[in-house]
Amino acid sequence: MSVVSAKNITKTFGEAPNKTIVLKNISLQINKGEFLSIIGPSGSGKSTLMYLLGLLDVPTKGAIYINGQKTKDISEKDRAKLRNREIGFVFQTYNLLPRTSALANVMLPLNYSNVSRDERKSKAMKLLKDVGLSHRISSFPSQLSGGEQQRVAIARSLICGPSIILADEPTGNLDTKTGEQIINIISQLNKQGKTIVLVTHDNNIAKKTNRIVTIKDGQVLSDKKNR
Ligand SMILES: Nc1ncnc2c1ncn2[C@@H]1O[C@H](COP(=O)(O)OP(=O)(O)OP(=O)(O)O)[C@@H](O)[C@H]1O
Ligand SMILES: [Mg+2]
Repeated sequence: MSVVSAKNITKTFGEAPNKTIVLKNISLQINKGEFLSIIGPSGSGKSTLMYLLGLLDVPTKGAIYINGQKTKDISEKDRAKLRNREIGFVFQTYNLLPRTSALANVMLPLNYSNVSRDERKSKAMKLLKDVGLSHRISSFPSQLSGGEQQRVAIARSLICGPSIILADEPTGNLDTKTGEQIINIISQLNKQGKTIVLVTHDNNIAKKTNRIVTIKDGQVLSDKKNR
């Protein structure tokens, strides 16, 4: 069964005569356990598509399904719940809170749940350990390297136990070697059963994934199994 699917989605911004059609009737089914990469030129609509797949925005036409559940006619509150439970995000710019320790950044998404503080803390410590940052839990983002900040962001994306990770150019601000470490962590998550959708500009990274979807001008240009 597909964990995420987009059926005939169109996304436009603005109103005529300034209307921009960013996604044009895209359909995409992402199966459980897949490691899929999305490539395509700048401005082709990759991030817009990720926002829609991750329920951070809604399509103008068409619908997104998560685990077979239609997300269109549900309330904003239910959509947020579904998003928090099922989807973890990793962005190019890390998006960590600056005056907050690595540990507190990772715990943050659970602050709105009924999980106790002790449990939140032990979960966050475990995730930081998994990404090799046990020695940095008290550091603020400004005291961490880009790769370390991205590892904190990955740990944070996992705290609610999502089945799907959406990563939008997670290596975009990193050097090749650090980028490889981040991709290795993401690959490992896939081996542990998480479904991964990764936007990348780097063909060498895309080649490491199971399926490559190329987007151009808001449409799927090709969709190829890789291995
Ligand atoms: N909120 C918005 N309002 C108007 N236009 C938007 C909005 N968000 C995105 N766009 C437009 O949609 C198009 C696609 O943007 P998007 O960010 O999805 O591209 P992308 O493929 O992720 O590019 P990049 O590789 O540079 O990150 C762009 O032309 C952009 O200007
Ligand atoms: Mg983008």
